[in-house]
Amino acid sequence: MNSSASIFNLQRPMKFHLELTDKCNAACPMCGRTQEGNRCLPDMSKVKNIELDLDLIKRNFTPAICAKISEIDLCGGLGDPPAARECLEICDYFIGFDIKIILSSNGGLRSAAWWRNLGERFRGTESIVEFHIDGLKDTNHLYRVNTRFEKIMQNAEAYLGTGAIGEWHFIPFEHNQHQIEEALERSREMGFSNFRVIDTIRFGKENRFSYQMPDGTVRDLHPADPSFTGVASSGGENSRDASRSGAIEVVDSVQCKSELQNRPYIVATGAVSACCWIEGSDDERRMYSRSGVSHSTEHNIRNRPLEEILLEEPYRTIYPQAWEAGSNPVCIRKCAKMQRSKRRAL
Ligand SMILES: C[S@@+](CC[C@H](N)C(=O)[O-])C[C@H]1O[C@@H](n2cnc3c(N)ncnc32)[C@H](O)[C@@H]1O
Ligand code: SF4
Ligand code: SF4
Repeated sequence: MNSSASIFNLQRPMKFHLELTDKCNAACPMCGRTQEGNRCLPDMSKVKNIELDLDLIKRNFTPAICAKISEIDLCGGLGDPPAARECLEICDYFIGFDIKIILSSNGGLRSAAWWRNLGERFRGTESIVEFHIDGLKDTNHLYRVNTRFEKIMQNAEAYLGTGAIGEWHFIPFEHNQHQIEEALERSREMGFSNFRVIDTIRFGKENRFSYQMPDGTVRDLHPADPSFTGVASSGGENSRDASRSGAIEVVDSVQCKSELQNRPYIVATGAVSACCWIEGSDDERRMYSRSGVSHSTEHNIRNRPLEEILLEEPYRTIYPQAWEAGSNPVCIRKCAKMQRSKRRAL
């Protein structure tokens, strides 16, 4: 790479990862928004109840940028995309540029009519909804706390009934591992095009995760038995950017996934980041303090144009130097040692 050029290249084909909002109806205990030890209430030091609206999107995703974008992940770290007021309008805007949308959701918010509407927009395109449903009627809410399985099924049926593409993503735990086969069957009956199992590696050293349900009951999450899932843990984390291959790759030097895919990340506050792994980390804070640029104000699409932000430090020399020096632990874990979750289609 030319050391003075940005790791992001606006002339090349691009992808984006957007957190449309940090609002969510659910309270998954291992999610960054959740206080697992306090009735799964949202952690208000992180959650701002904020969203990216259509005006802001249009201002930054100009027709020139959109012409370069092949794919946008509507996912994020703290929220559920359908919780964004203008989610449908934003999808319309991107679909108008033939951009493939991958929308990840717990499926529990909004009405069946809303999901039918989304399906009508996605039908006939490559766009897809990933429904993250970790179990059946008696188990899904044990991880997807505060959601109702029957409502999720109605929403998914309404969406799939339009002919749009949907996938069922399932995180196995000890409490739902025996339901993988039945959920797979059900996904086929309903018309999901794929059923994927995602390993989670957020258990820590004790290999279990304690949390308090909203009613005060204390529960433990335990890893699934690999014999049920066929997925061996890699010791990494985060399913959004999970490796889809299933193979554990080990390389010596950092191969930045975001640079390779030309895929920046933008969170609901409007702050631009290199990826969802580094966003909010000490590594990122260090990169920004070396760049002399304020992450929250100057590299925020509410204040400055995206096209300028992506071409400035720390994305020019500071990131590549840190990779060379091996000084970003997150980058080493994720993009040298490849400690990422894995997804496997059944
Ligand atoms: C924070 S969520 C945001 C999108 C949406 N709310 C959802 O849950 O799909 C981002 C991703 O994290 C995944 N996720 C949640 N809990 C996880 C866990 N314990 N391990 C791995 N991935 C997890 C979700 O399934 C989703 O793919
Ligand atoms: S549905 Fe997604 S954003 Fe909401 S709590 Fe669960 S993982 Fe977090
Ligand atoms: S973890 Fe570091 S190297 Fe990997 S994609 Fe993110 S910024 Fe790039």
